[in-house]
Amino acid sequence: MASIVSYMPVPRETWATKFGMILATAGAAIGLGNLLRFPVQASQHGGGAFMIPYFLFLTIMGIPMMWLEWTIGRLGGRYGHGTTPGIFEILWPHPIAKYLGVLGLIIPLILGIYYLYVCSWTLAFAFFSLTKAYFGLNDLESMSNFLRSFQGIEKGPFSSIWTAYLFFLITFFANFIILYRGLGKGIERLSRLAMPTLFFIAIVLMIRALTLGTPDPSHPERNALAGLGFLWNPNFSQLKDASTWLAAAGQIFFTLSLGLGTIQCYASYLREKDDIVLSGLTVTSLNEIAEVIFGGSIAIPAAVAFFGIAQISKGGAFDLAFLSTPLVLTHLPLGQIWGFLWFFLLFFAGLTSSVSIIQPCVAFLIDELNIPWKRAVVMIAIFSFLPTQMVIFFLKHGFLDELDFWIGTMSLPILGTIEVILFGWVYGIDKGFSEMHKGAWIKVPNIYRFVLKYITPTCLIVIFFVWLLQDGIDVLLLRGIPACDRPYRLLARGLILFSLLLAGWLIHLAWRKRK
Ligand code: ALA
Repeated sequence: MASIVSYMPVPRETWATKFGMILATAGAAIGLGNLLRFPVQASQHGGGAFMIPYFLFLTIMGIPMMWLEWTIGRLGGRYGHGTTPGIFEILWPHPIAKYLGVLGLIIPLILGIYYLYVCSWTLAFAFFSLTKAYFGLNDLESMSNFLRSFQGIEKGPFSSIWTAYLFFLITFFANFIILYRGLGKGIERLSRLAMPTLFFIAIVLMIRALTLGTPDPSHPERNALAGLGFLWNPNFSQLKDASTWLAAAGQIFFTLSLGLGTIQCYASYLREKDDIVLSGLTVTSLNEIAEVIFGGSIAIPAAVAFFGIAQISKGGAFDLAFLSTPLVLTHLPLGQIWGFLWFFLLFFAGLTSSVSIIQPCVAFLIDELNIPWKRAVVMIAIFSFLPTQMVIFFLKHGFLDELDFWIGTMSLPILGTIEVILFGWVYGIDKGFSEMHKGAWIKVPNIYRFVLKYITPTCLIVIFFVWLLQDGIDVLLLRGIPACDRPYRLLARGLILFSLLLAGWLIHLAWRKRK
């Protein structure tokens, strides 16, 4: 057992202020998932009916998992570990435990890589709004051509992918410069600026979207209220479809950044007696306000007011943000300002999340391989640059979609399942609860002992097997994927496999050095 982590508490960098820490963690949670992913998931899975599994999973998985991840993160930080390999070994002092944490390293790395690229589109579109680059395009087809030519997929207004590449470079460097500046001067300072700005812009945009009225009197059915109705009117028949339940569970994980390695890592910079129960609940509540209120009240009502429900229900996540919304904006007085605000809001939401997503990779190098903070940031920047090129240049072949499926959709609940079992069954729910309550400002209701021990893991396991039966085989065998895209999909899987092996080897190396 020589490789088991030492149980000696070690001094560790901590958040400068409690307020900054809450804003940073809320910034991690509130991201593109709230403003882009949520409205599309809800409208595609039964509108108001989607909210039934959504709130159910929020109560029995989201909130308790948030407390759990803060607890194990703070516990890990006390012994110098901000990532899941070290944290899991504290929960389960067994030589295998650290390898179970490997997902907590590759999820941040791979998700961070493509999240950054999508985030860079929002910055580009903020710029295009100011310069009115897409003004004058009148229908979804020409807007789609604008987007696809920007992404280098189709010929169109952009002669090459280099504009997209330039905005990617700006976003990439912004992200790593913030991380390079460290916890207080980088992440915390960004969140103090970005989060209040984000809430302010979101409220202004929400008021604007909801007061659009009926822009085209010849189509009285097209108005913002119809957009709210489209999102919220329940279609209960969708509850019979397992995919509605899977989508709701997936959205809870994604939006709260659970099973990602991020919350644990941010919590590892807490002090032993810092409250986590009320703080975890506060962050969850801020995220839900941003998701259910802002996410549901800006893009969809605006798009329905201008294009009607039939057009909107056809599109996907990006159609809404990058196609319908820009077209709406071109019709508004001061459209370029509204456009800038909308895309800048997305950019700030994305940036505060992308720094949090990548931070666990940096923390692993610092904590486990004793690499100084700044050097660790540079190493992760260099290492992540190469796979990002594949995301950018193979976009049209579904490379990003394949990564997103395995990492963004599948891996989060798997890591969540491992940690909830380790916490509830191996470390012990009673011990876990007393750790959770150190310094707590409020008490977690006792029912959550039962929920975390039995309900959450059962739900996660059932969801996984339902998925396997329903879609798993088709996805594994790449059914429905055009033959020309399959090599790229396989390459994406190869990248994930390579990252798994590399992370496993690094864990092995780190623990061998420690002996
Ligand atoms: N929680 C982050 C988001 O919603 C990842 O985008």
